[in-house]
Formats: sequence, structure tokens, C-alpha cells
Amino acid sequence: MLSVEDNALLTKVGPGTPAGNLFRRFWHPVVTAARLPEPDGKPLRARILGENIILFRDTSGKVGALQALCPHRRTQLFWGRNEEGGLRCAYHGWKFDVSGQCVDMPTEPPESNYKDRLRTIGYPVEERGGFVWIYMGPRDRQPPLPEYEWMDLPAGHVLSSSFLQESNYLQALEGDVDTAHVSYLHRFLDPETAPQPPQMVQGYRHFVIQDTAPRLSVKQTGYGFLYGGRRTLDDGNYYWRITQWLAPAATQLPSAGELSNAKINVPVDDENTMSFGVFYHRNRPMREGEWYTPSTSTEPYKISTGHIVDHPRGATNLDNDFLIDREAEKRKFVGVKGGTGAEDRAVTESMGPVMDRSEEHLGVSDIAVVAVRRACCGWSGTSRTAPSRRCPRTGSCSTPAGWT
Ligand code: FES
Ligand SMILES: [Fe+2]
Repeated sequence: MLSVEDNALLTKVGPGTPAGNLFRRFWHPVVTAARLPEPDGKPLRARILGENIILFRDTSGKVGALQALCPHRRTQLFWGRNEEGGLRCAYHGWKFDVSGQCVDMPTEPPESNYKDRLRTIGYPVEERGGFVWIYMGPRDRQPPLPEYEWMDLPAGHVLSSSFLQESNYLQALEGDVDTAHVSYLHRFLDPETAPQPPQMVQGYRHFVIQDTAPRLSVKQTGYGFLYGGRRTLDDGNYYWRITQWLAPAATQLPSAGELSNAKINVPVDDENTMSFGVFYHRNRPMREGEWYTPSTSTEPYKISTGHIVDHPRGATNLDNDFLIDREAEKRKFVGVKGGTGAEDRAVTESMGPVMDRSEEHLGVSDIAVVAVRRACCGWSGTSRTAPSRRCPRTGSCSTPAGWT
């Protein structure tokens, strides 16, 4: 369990908060590049780390990420016209380029140089690996883009997706470093009947039910940690599932056979998260139907905090009980519809927007969950040096019985 104070320390991500400062020291994907397909196309409303921004691709193809409200009289730039190298506000026609510089101010006298002195907030943006990346931290501390192995693969080798997780980022991340749930939440009662892509590792569904109490080991690294969950199979062999956690909220998940699988959780605000998924093959293009993309709607959506965003929302969601099918429970452990991603979201979103960790009861199978919390407590708001092995805040991040 966590104290109420430490739960808040880890889950509040707005400007000026310790975790918010930590996240602002990293580049984050903010949207798949495919959602801004053409120059001078439709702008998108996004929200990230508790800040509303507007994304647009200008005439030259560059992407801009500006503060959502016009600096003149604070209307939404979303209403504006994306034309001739900038976004022109709908109210009085003031226009801003991708850097945030005002480049036209048609309601001011022609002799005025006011426009040259006015900037709005425009964040650095890069496009790589199928995503638009944004950096929101101090400019003098701006790091290079991360070097994930999938970022420079040919486009056909990578399948990228994005979907809204309607909870705090930590609930999503804790699910990503929780191998024990795979034996239950994603279980088919008869593994032979499970629909699965042909490239999924042979026997995976059989292995995870032969031993439902994996033994976990965590190894600290400079980027976070890796942990392994070891299951003992009926024939005496071990089945290991190995996950890497890359601070602050990305994971390299256990391989699904030939394919590799990565996920990056990016806080929208304290109560919502954008999850970016990547399936890829290092040596060849992905094949048709080899993996699935989540079924989402890209209709504008009012999130829990009341903000309207253009983030893709799962077609099955809390509002429709994930279309749970009790008949289906004769074949699989849970009847939630929408695949493994929807199963994960159903359990983690239903904890509430921000889970109360002072009420939980952890077991030894939660060792990696505890390791993430300890590391984040150590990193929050201070530096990017690797976390210490011990919790820096005594009395919190309690150690499960049996963990030495
Ligand atoms: S409010 Fe945007 S130009 Fe006036
Ligand atoms: Fe899962």
C-alpha cells in the first residue's frame, strides 16, 4: 500500500507537481502521425500533462503544438483556419506559426510591430517512428529523442496505435508490469479454442495456466528496470516472461513470438492517459492481419475532467460495461469484449480515475508494481539519475511479505 500523500505524489502530473516535473524531462508521443495526414489539414485538440494544446500540420508539413487558447482574448484556436504557414484564430484573425510566434495581426494598425513581440506557448515537436513527439520541459534541459529500436524501422515493419485509458497513468503502467494477471484476465478456459495470431509464441496460453504463481525477479538498470516472471511448467521446464520498464511510463512487453511489443503511457491529466502501442518486426514487414489494432472511435470526446479532446476512445468502454458477455465466460475467464487491451482497461479503469492505494493489499506477485513506485518516488522532481534500490520515503511503498 501507499500513504495517501505518496499516492498523490506519484499520480498528480500537472504543471509544478513533482511527477509532472519528472514527465516534463522526457519526450512523449502525443498523437500517431497518421492522425495529422495532410498539410493545412484539420487541427486536433489534445491534452497532455494537464495542459490543453492544439496540434496542426502547417503548409510545409511541419507539426505545431500550441497552447489551446489564443493569447489575445483566450478563445479556442481549435476554431481557427490552418492556412499559409500557420493557424489563424477564428475570433480576430491573429495568426501563429508552429513555433508559437505571431505572424499576422490584421486587427492592429499596419504600422504596429506588436505581432513581432507576441508569442504563444509552442512546444518543440519531432516526428519519428509513426508518432508525433512533444517536449514540455525546460528548454535548457531538452534531451535528444529516445532511441527505441522500432523508431527507425521501415514504416511497414511497425504497427502503431493509440487509445485513451480513462484513468491515471499509474494504473495502466502497473498493469503493464503485472505478469500474474495474464494467467487469469486474458485466459481462455480451453487454450485450444483461443483465437490467436499465428505468430504468437507457441504454447503461451498453455504455459501461463500451468503455474499461476510466477516468481518475480527485478534487476535495476540505468533506464528503469527489467523483471522476469518465472513459471514452472508441468514438464519441469521454466517459462519466463520478461518485461522492461523504461522510465517514466513505457514498457517493452514480453515478445509475442516473432513480433515485439512496446507500450508508452502518457498522462493526459491526473484522471486520463493516452496509451501508445507498437507492434513491430525487426527483419521484415508486418503481414496483413498479423496483429490487431484496438477498435476506437475518433469522435470528439468529453473526458472525466470535462475537457473535449480528439483522443481515440475504445469502442467498448466503461459507459457500455465493455459489452460484457456472460455467455462468453463459459469459454474465457472474463466476458469483456474488445480483446486483451479492453480487458486490461476494464479492470484498471474501474478502480476509479485515481486508485486509492492506501486501501490495497499487495502480494509477492506485485513486486514489479512496488519497484515502479519506489523508483518513481526516487526520481520525482529531482534529477534523472537512476533511482536508489531502497525506497527514499520510509513508511511507504510497503514490501510484500516474503520479498527479500
Ligand atoms: S481571440 Fe484570437 S485573435 Fe482575438
Ligand atoms: Fe493485460
